[in-house]
Amino acid sequence: MSYTHDIVEKNIGLMAVLTLLVVSVGGLVQIVPLFFIDETTQPVEGLKPYTPLQLTGRDIYIREGCVQCHSQMIRPFRAETERYGHYSVAGEFIYDYPFLWGSKRTGPDLARVGGRYSDEWHRVHLINPRDVVPESVMPSYPWLADTAIDDSTIERKLKALRLLGVPYTDEDIAGAKAQLQGKTELDAVIVYLQNLGLLVK
Ligand code: HEC
Repeated sequence: MSYTHDIVEKNIGLMAVLTLLVVSVGGLVQIVPLFFIDETTQPVEGLKPYTPLQLTGRDIYIREGCVQCHSQMIRPFRAETERYGHYSVAGEFIYDYPFLWGSKRTGPDLARVGGRYSDEWHRVHLINPRDVVPESVMPSYPWLADTAIDDSTIERKLKALRLLGVPYTDEDIAGAKAQLQGKTELDAVIVYLQNLGLLVK
């Protein structure tokens, strides 16, 4: 062992400082480039901010805990891409606050569930999953069908997202409540699900 190494190993303060330095440099080398690579900062082609109805559906999805059983991130492994479709790419999630990637899969990944089933299938499935998948352990969500959307916060939600960089226009915000008129929570969740993952094939 060299003499200098001896000094470092016998001096815990110095060792801590040097360790911190090495970890910081290593961390920066991994993290900083991500802010400059287009693939991780630019939306995929055709990506649009969620419509007020989709956004409402997304919030209900979070509220109901769907996110605890369903991930929304397809990993780049063959077993995943054959089952769920193209692996997820960063540019699909630019307008997601918060991300719903998850890692717990009691149910299947939903990152590309959009268009896989009809609206009617989702309606029946969400009200009682066992009506379409007899062995399903997913809970029933019958109240979604009888609950009108609470539209009192939608304008503030869009404004908050705009602050974070989601490009909503003043017209989008002014017209938001009208889009939620007469819709149930179930309608909103289905519209949200049917839009998931359509842009990358
Ligand atoms: C306790 C865990 C659990 C929760 C919570 C849960 N699910 Fe599921 N989900 C499952 C399981 C298991 C399946 C597979 C069986 C089936 O299709 O019902 C499934 C299937 C699905 C499917 C079909 C996916 C496919 O590709 O076939 C959709 C869509 C879905 N869930 C949406 C939701 C939504 C929306 C919510 C919240 C309102 C939710 N789930 C909450 C467990 C869960």
